[in-house]
Order: sequence, then C-alpha cells, then structure tokens
Amino acid sequence: MFNTGLVTKAKGILDKIRYGEINYKPTKLVTPTRLIQSRSQAWVGLEKILFDIIEFSGIKTNSAVEFGVEFGYSTAALANFFKQVTGVDIFTGDEHAGHYGDIYAETSNNLKDFPNITLIKADYKDYITSANDTFDLVHVDIIHTYDDTYACGLWGAQHSSCTIFHDTQSYPDVKRAVADIAKKTNKKFYNYRKCNGLGIVF
Ligand SMILES: C[S@@+](CC[C@H](N)C(=O)[O-])C[C@H]1O[C@@H](n2cnc3c(N)ncnc32)[C@H](O)[C@@H]1O
Repeated sequence: MFNTGLVTKAKGILDKIRYGEINYKPTKLVTPTRLIQSRSQAWVGLEKILFDIIEFSGIKTNSAVEFGVEFGYSTAALANFFKQVTGVDIFTGDEHAGHYGDIYAETSNNLKDFPNITLIKADYKDYITSANDTFDLVHVDIIHTYDDTYACGLWGAQHSSCTIFHDTQSYPDVKRAVADIAKKTNKKFYNYRKCNGLGIVF
C-alpha cells in the first residue's frame, strides 16, 4: 500500500530538481468580495491567493491581461485586485477545456457588473503580435500544450512584472513550459500545488 503523502512529497522533490520550482506557500488567504457563478470550477480556490501573490511579488495593481477567459471566473477574481483587466479568448474552447460553441455573449453577460474588464475576442497569437503594452500581471490559461503555453507565457514574462500559469500540476507540458520560460527570462518559478497548480514567474 502506497503512502500518498510520501508519494506527493517525493514528486515535489523530483520536480524541484527537474524544473527548479520553488513550492509556493501563501501566508494569507483573502476571498475577493465580487465573484461570479461559472460553469467551470477549475479555477475555484485560486481567487483566495491572488492578494498573497501581489504582496509576495511586490507588483503594482494597475493592469492585468488574461489569456483564457472562458466563462470569466478567473477574470472576475482578477478584477477585484487590478484597476483594469483585459481578457483575451477565442471564446469557442479547445481540446482540453472542451468545445462549447461561441460563448462570447454568455461571458460578457457574466461579467456585465465589472466595468474594469475589457474582453477581446481574439487568438492570443494575433494579440501578442499586435500588442506591445506592458502589464503588472499576465495570466495564462489557454490550451495546455507546451508550444502554446511557451509562446504565450514567454510574451507574458517579457511584458509583465509577474506571470501566472494555471494547470501546472494537471498538465506536465504546462509545467515544463513554465520552467523553460523562467530559465530563459532569468526569473524564479514558484509553484502552488493545489487547485490543479498555479505557476508564478517573476
Ligand atoms: C481553461 S479555459 C480558461 C478558464 C478560465 N481562466 C477560468 O478558469 O475561469 C481555456 C480557454 O482558453 C481559450 N483558448 C484556447 N486556445 C486559445 C487561443 N489560441 N487563443 C485565445 N484563447 C484560447 C479557450 O477558448 C478557453 O476558453
């Protein structure tokens, strides 16, 4: 019989060696006051550590851009802490999140009470070739392939003070891409292992 606690600990040690990740342990959990109901629950729990990440990384809170909005749960969470949030998504899903038709109108409606959120219906590839703005925080939660996470996340790390990546624990390709981005940009890779994993690069 395996001791699951020991297996998790051993995996953490291996990942530390393999990916240079530093285990992120928030010191403060703050639940944002304004959240939305979402058809997807994958991001639920992470809203409580956003404030801790902001304090820990020492970033400003003027602007954030999110790649991968879906129904808007994480976008709404970010909008509690950042003055302006831009959400970029094709709004038709992908092979990991699922294909659900065009949800742009549904997501816009979910976020109608957040005047500080701007939604852009676009592929991240088109957005990053035309935008050269910088942000206090970039959130990457698109299709979870190595190549897409690397391309989008590298742009994020080069255009923000702090970049966060969802699903580092549930998709090894995401974790590998995050580790490579941190190495390439000379930044540190902190990893929060709960809620499917959140990589924090700054
Ligand atoms: C996992 S969901 C995002 C979930 C959201 N962050 C949350 O938890 O509230 C992934 C989203 O990425 C979007 N997506 C996939 N590939 C994309 C691309 N190339 N450009 C922009 N968005 C993309 C999908 O349409 C989908 O809505």
